[in-house]
Amino acid sequence: VTSRLQLQTEGRLELAIGQPDLRLLPFDELRASTVHRFGIREPEIMHYCPYRGTAQMRGKLSAFLSLNYGIPIDPERLFITNGASHAIDLILSRFVREGDTVMVEEPTYFLGLQILRDRYPRIVPVPTDEQGMDVDALERLLESERPKLVYTIPIHHNPTGATLSLARRRKLVALAKKHDFLIVADEVYQLLTYEGSPPPPMQVLDPERVLSLGSFSKILAPGLRLGWIDAAPPVIAELVRCGVHQSGGGSAPFVAALVESALETGIQQEYLVRIRDVYRRRCHTMIAALERSLDPAITFARPEGGFFVWMHLPGRNTEDLLAKAHAEGVGFLPGKRASVVGGLSDRLRLCFTFYDEREIESAIRLLAKVLN
Ligand SMILES: Cc1ncc(COP(=O)(O)O)c(C=O)c1O
Repeated sequence: VTSRLQLQTEGRLELAIGQPDLRLLPFDELRASTVHRFGIREPEIMHYCPYRGTAQMRGKLSAFLSLNYGIPIDPERLFITNGASHAIDLILSRFVREGDTVMVEEPTYFLGLQILRDRYPRIVPVPTDEQGMDVDALERLLESERPKLVYTIPIHHNPTGATLSLARRRKLVALAKKHDFLIVADEVYQLLTYEGSPPPPMQVLDPERVLSLGSFSKILAPGLRLGWIDAAPPVIAELVRCGVHQSGGGSAPFVAALVESALETGIQQEYLVRIRDVYRRRCHTMIAALERSLDPAITFARPEGGFFVWMHLPGRNTEDLLAKAHAEGVGFLPGKRASVVGGLSDRLRLCFTFYDEREIESAIRLLAKVLN
């Protein structure tokens, strides 16, 4: 079967696609979760649900997160969303007015940037390096900027792969307190660490000002459109005032009920362990292939988790290289797509989760021909 997604790539090995492999999606797992859920004859799952999600779902999610984060996660702090994208938009709708200042990393998640732009804030970029956001640069910017919120991807960043160090996290929350802004921590890759142990989610450092975002898109399936916000009760109280929720109730109660079964039965946990192993191997395969075949002038960061490898090609323009790459049958995301200011034209992003190891090796062989 040729999927819609495969058709979009026009037969290329498209390393620009930052998504899970279609062949790894949890068919059997979701079938079993659905059978489990329908075994409990509970008509409520097909009805409107509370704005934040049901107490049962939030309870199961908190148990799963507590187990995997190694710290207790309070179900009263959880708000079920239609994924992290919805969470970003919902937060903006409640806390940011048109023209307010929002600060974001340069570069950032390119489609997240679009969600921000849709609400017309003033967007101010903050520089980053291999340790994530440059919080000293942020401090200098705060001498003249008054942001309502800072949007950050503090772990296994999209596109750079960087994880914000603990020292920088502490400084960021201290700045938020001093200058009175919220931190929206997009932590959709928090549970996808392949090397070492990751810092805990950002809300641990400041439970009042940080909103930690998570998503089942990265650990189960994007089509479920299910995620969560972990935030302080006054923040949650503001989120539930949203008109869409007042009218429509909680996010996707039916899907949430199926996922609740995946959490309750251990299906989600087993699947997470399995894909983490597959992604770790794919990540290693891509790094090894790049090390073997690339000109040493081209450098790249070795990710410890997430989906991406971020490359630097000094003196080259990756947008110009794209047509040549497509002609060879391979694709990548030019760095400019992830830039807030239209820069980073000497960078590119590769994703290692969409293809298997053999395909990754073929793709990197083709890519090396173009880049070297
Ligand atoms: C940093 C980041 N945030 C959010 C998303 C989208 O998440 P969701 O599918 O939960 O809306 C992605 C997906 O690529 C991402 O990389």
